[in-house]
Amino acid sequence: MSKHTEISKLLADPKIGEAYTVKGWVRAFRANRFISLNDGSTINNLQAVVDFENFDSELLKRVSFHSCIQINGQLIESQGSGQAVELVVESIEILGDNNAEEYGLQPKRQTMEYLREKAHLRMRTNTLSAVFRIRHAISFAVHKYFNDHGYYYLHTPIITGSDAEGAGEMFQVTSLDVENPPKDENGKVDYKEDFFGKATNLTVSGQLQGEIGALALGKIYTFGPTFRAENSHTSRHLSEFWMIEPEVAFCDIHGNMDLAEDFSKYLINYVLDNYPDDLAVLDKRIQELEKNMKKEDRRPMGLVETLKFVVENNFERITYTEAINILRNSKPFKKGKFEFEPEWGKDLQAEHERFLVEKKFKRPVIVRDYPKGFKAFYMRLNEDNETVAAMDVLFPGIGEVIGGAQREERHDVLVGRMKAMDVHQEELWWYLELRKFGGCPHAGFGLGFERMVLFITGMENIRDVIPFPRTPGKAEF
Ligand code: 4AD
Ligand code: MG
Repeated sequence: MSKHTEISKLLADPKIGEAYTVKGWVRAFRANRFISLNDGSTINNLQAVVDFENFDSELLKRVSFHSCIQINGQLIESQGSGQAVELVVESIEILGDNNAEEYGLQPKRQTMEYLREKAHLRMRTNTLSAVFRIRHAISFAVHKYFNDHGYYYLHTPIITGSDAEGAGEMFQVTSLDVENPPKDENGKVDYKEDFFGKATNLTVSGQLQGEIGALALGKIYTFGPTFRAENSHTSRHLSEFWMIEPEVAFCDIHGNMDLAEDFSKYLINYVLDNYPDDLAVLDKRIQELEKNMKKEDRRPMGLVETLKFVVENNFERITYTEAINILRNSKPFKKGKFEFEPEWGKDLQAEHERFLVEKKFKRPVIVRDYPKGFKAFYMRLNEDNETVAAMDVLFPGIGEVIGGAQREERHDVLVGRMKAMDVHQEELWWYLELRKFGGCPHAGFGLGFERMVLFITGMENIRDVIPFPRTPGKAEF
């Protein structure tokens, strides 16, 4: 392969007068003269100029939308506006022809729904390429944040023998012949014959194993895929998604909220500082989409403006009980506009969360101290015996991005909660032992990675911020 220069490198440090070789996909070929070339290294295209009157016209016919080419040329200061430099084409080599008639993409705005069906091509579009560069940036920032703050990255299992949340809705993993499984004396499937000698599932969370790590290494985080077999068809749910779960020894619910806020702001700042060009393209996309919308349907602020606002202002922190009071005193409740009544003891619905975040406080809101009735067994029981030290971080336009808690470290209280909630103690013997042998107060949370990517990119649907979405009925690509 001949040596070439990546367009990101060339544009960052252009050397006028030098010869360059570049490779990429043609984004546009205007007036038989101007080629916009993109190689994915940056949102920005390189403009190349062809002297078509003195060029092989048969070859130029093959320079078409999304064909893959190599250009050799000399860099000059641009003669036109819109770019600082341009490449004067000396020769072109076609690396991959594109058959425009059969090709799935066209040089015009196409709907996200359509592009989802073309997941093998959609990353070549401006919007999706920006999304996936930013997705990378956020993952990198996750590791950087935790490494710089003294956390250890812990790999928790993907195949699990226990149901961490006691919530069901798991995908089973088996090597048994599902058409003809071995049966025990009661006629039930005999999982002793299965690969691991027991029934196993794909994990819904690495938290419980993460706690093992925190009680030895002090501060850990996980960052891996998690799986939920719930039949949710919303723009916020995936069946396979990535979660980041820090778990911290000697930390209570307040330290946990501080960490969640600081960490979220760091991720947003990292993208603001390092990916302004990609953000600008996503910002412009929203403006164009909203051009023909009614004012009340538009977002209150542009994308970059929203991100800056979130990092520059404190998250609002309220208790669940305060949230219920605010909701019951709100205009939409009094006017009967909520579909679900906000009632103490019942979980907050998306419409309630949206009211708190978008109407009442107009910023991210951390709600804590939820009733124990609908929260997980491992959350620490508060003094009132009614609520647990749980917290949810709600973001504008999205709702819950983070869910976490201070963990119940008192052995007897935990056993009581497990009994009350029908959680198998035998299966989680090791989790209980952590409370018997040198336990300590600790806390942690799970941040839904795609929901954070959704927020930072300003996209509308979670299926457009993961390269190959898995949702009920869909596992293509
Ligand atoms: O609130 P969740 O269920 O919390 C846990 O799993 C805890 N074990 C975390 C912990 O304390 N270590 O999930 C955490 C986050 C949610 O706030 C949400 O952002 C995201 O994971 N999430 C989903 N994202 C996409 N698709 C789904 N189906 C999701 N379910 C949860
Ligand atoms: Mg949750």
